[in-house]
Amino acid sequence: MSVRVGRRSFLAAAPAGALWAAGCRSTTDAPIDPRKASAEARGIAQVVAAQQTKDGAGVALGRTIGSRALPLLDPFLMLDEIRSDSPGDYLKGFPDHPHRGFETVTIMIDGAMEHRDSVGNHGRLAPGSVQWMTAGRGIIHSEMPKQESGLLWGFQLWVNLPRRLKMTAPRYQDIQRPDVPETSLAGGPTRVLAGSAADIRGPVEGIVVRPTMLDVTFAPGARLELEVAPAHNGFVYLLSGSLDAGPEARRITPRELGVLGTGSTFVATAGGDGARALVVSAEPIGEPIARRGPFVMNTEDELQRAFDDYRAGRLTDG
Ligand code: CO
Repeated sequence: MSVRVGRRSFLAAAPAGALWAAGCRSTTDAPIDPRKASAEARGIAQVVAAQQTKDGAGVALGRTIGSRALPLLDPFLMLDEIRSDSPGDYLKGFPDHPHRGFETVTIMIDGAMEHRDSVGNHGRLAPGSVQWMTAGRGIIHSEMPKQESGLLWGFQLWVNLPRRLKMTAPRYQDIQRPDVPETSLAGGPTRVLAGSAADIRGPVEGIVVRPTMLDVTFAPGARLELEVAPAHNGFVYLLSGSLDAGPEARRITPRELGVLGTGSTFVATAGGDGARALVVSAEPIGEPIARRGPFVMNTEDELQRAFDDYRAGRLTDG
């Protein structure tokens, strides 16, 4: 994804033979107004309202990707939002649990979490921070609230790894708020967490699906026109305010995710209260997926081996 700044540029190249997720096709349920539509603007293929559920030791969260309405948006496997000022919704946290075969991305908006793992990594996730963890062949970690009251607000996004990297060594990128560069794309601050926008590069590096992850604040009525690599799958998730997104001006409100259809740009206009949204895209992987609980592999046999390795205490062995 790159930003249109007077000229067209596609910074992220398309992979050959990229496959689209089944859930990411343009729909024809909204008429396209040719006066507003440019030929390349991505429509909103689907709007998914967060499904309320619980995970970890009993944390209330809203799930969009990974819910029945949108099981997969390749390479994105899951998107959960934790957003509550009731400690009972989050205090139990996510005690020790394993992962293998993919990456977990934690985006903190408000409040704080503490992270520890089986090989001695330990860190605090503060407001405005992002942690990109490549679980690879195996990690056992805990993610616990570092507060007993007040608002806890954050996201966890699961991003798949291709077959050749599922058993790679675990890797962490812990990025604190001051290290996230900002620009302005829609009348308010845009934080560039990964990828690039307006020639500013985000701090997350070396991720195989070449993600772009932006936290965009819109002034009231502001319009965004953002280039998104045509080969990427992408989504927009509303944190506050409202957006009319795509050439059909589909309304998206908080706790809703819009799946971007095909095309090369994302266009959106904020409502009268402005808006804040995560805009995320990446290259799809297009491989078979076998997933259950905390493991995401290519085949049932590999999945069974992950459970066997975990039970035998060798999940994280190098
Ligand atoms: Co985890």
